[in-house]
Amino acid sequence: MDDALFSDDAPLLEVSDLSVTFSSEDGLVRAVRGVSFTLEPGRLLSVVGESGSGKSVTAMALLGLLPRSAQVAGSAKFRGMELLGRPDREMMAVRGAEIAMIFQDPMTSLNPVYSVGWQLVEAIQAHQEIDKDAAWDRAVHLLDTVGIPEARQRAAGYPHEFSGGMRQRVVIAMAMANDPDVIIADEPTTALDVTVQAQVLEALRTAQEVTHAAIILITHDLGVVAGLADDVMVMYAGKAVERGTVEDIFYWPRMPYTKGLLGSLPRLDASGDERLRPIPGVPPSLANMPPGCPFMPRCPISRPNCAEDEPVLRPVVGGGHLAACHYAEEVSPGDELFAPISSDAEVVE
Ligand SMILES: Nc1ncnc2c1ncn2[C@@H]1O[C@H](COP(=O)(O)OP(=O)(O)O)[C@@H](O)[C@H]1O
Ligand SMILES: [Mg+2]
Repeated sequence: MDDALFSDDAPLLEVSDLSVTFSSEDGLVRAVRGVSFTLEPGRLLSVVGESGSGKSVTAMALLGLLPRSAQVAGSAKFRGMELLGRPDREMMAVRGAEIAMIFQDPMTSLNPVYSVGWQLVEAIQAHQEIDKDAAWDRAVHLLDTVGIPEARQRAAGYPHEFSGGMRQRVVIAMAMANDPDVIIADEPTTALDVTVQAQVLEALRTAQEVTHAAIILITHDLGVVAGLADDVMVMYAGKAVERGTVEDIFYWPRMPYTKGLLGSLPRLDASGDERLRPIPGVPPSLANMPPGCPFMPRCPISRPNCAEDEPVLRPVVGGGHLAACHYAEEVSPGDELFAPISSDAEVVE
């Protein structure tokens, strides 16, 4: 890209009041409703929330990958350059070299009829002046970096010759190929076994160390985030409902929804109450949303005013920690807000 488009003192990625609306038979679907966040260089921001909360649509909007029927409003500036509304041709250049994308299904990014090494060479040569042999060496090096054993031999292999986890590593290598400033990974491990998940996340962390890219890691599984993310943004019904450092979110969640997500995770520590406390109910339909807090029907601490005023994301005690709950200050770490599901032990008794 032409460097004149960028501003050196601008934030790496600054999203302000991003909204995405689709038309459907049921009326307007407000998939993303005023999301704002800033991504700092080299940080890992995790975007977490149940299926349908607007995580993927947020990412697709930033990359210009939504269908034309989507109405997109707000602003998303990459190093000072507005991404929203930029022509396709320019967005292709951004996606190749500046902001790389990793999807849940690695075959979205891989072509079944070419060897993985060749696809890496293509990705490298698309944005860099480098001869084929040197590009091949770099491809092998990248495959080795993400943990593909015997990378030089494997580079000649085709995607179907790799396991799901190994394919996702190849995609991570492709994302690294042009030294991007931002990598957006949308549920990169959701389709994989738990042990393979950990290895692929490790490869993603390696990619970050090597490229110094900032990462947006989208996941419905808050369990993936601990030990990996610097910052967390929790989404519900198209909005960010809590934001903070990973410590803020895990040690003192302020939004009852976040507390519920944590209670849905199996806990490894043997101390205290280990029973799962999942959130009852389901998220609201994003078409014709009623006023008020969208979490209210599922919320154990809601009061009548929650049905009228939708809470805004606002600062709560402690640094940059934000929560969208009228009663965030009443939520404390020791309180269990949701009922446990009965354990096997109780059934036996
Ligand atoms: N192309 C589309 N047309 C209409 N609605 C869409 C489209 N893409 C996504 N949506 C809707 O937007 C909402 C948010 O979807 P998404 O961002 O994919 O959720 P998540 O990634 O958090 O699971 C959902 O209700 C989904 O049905
Ligand atoms: Mg998604």
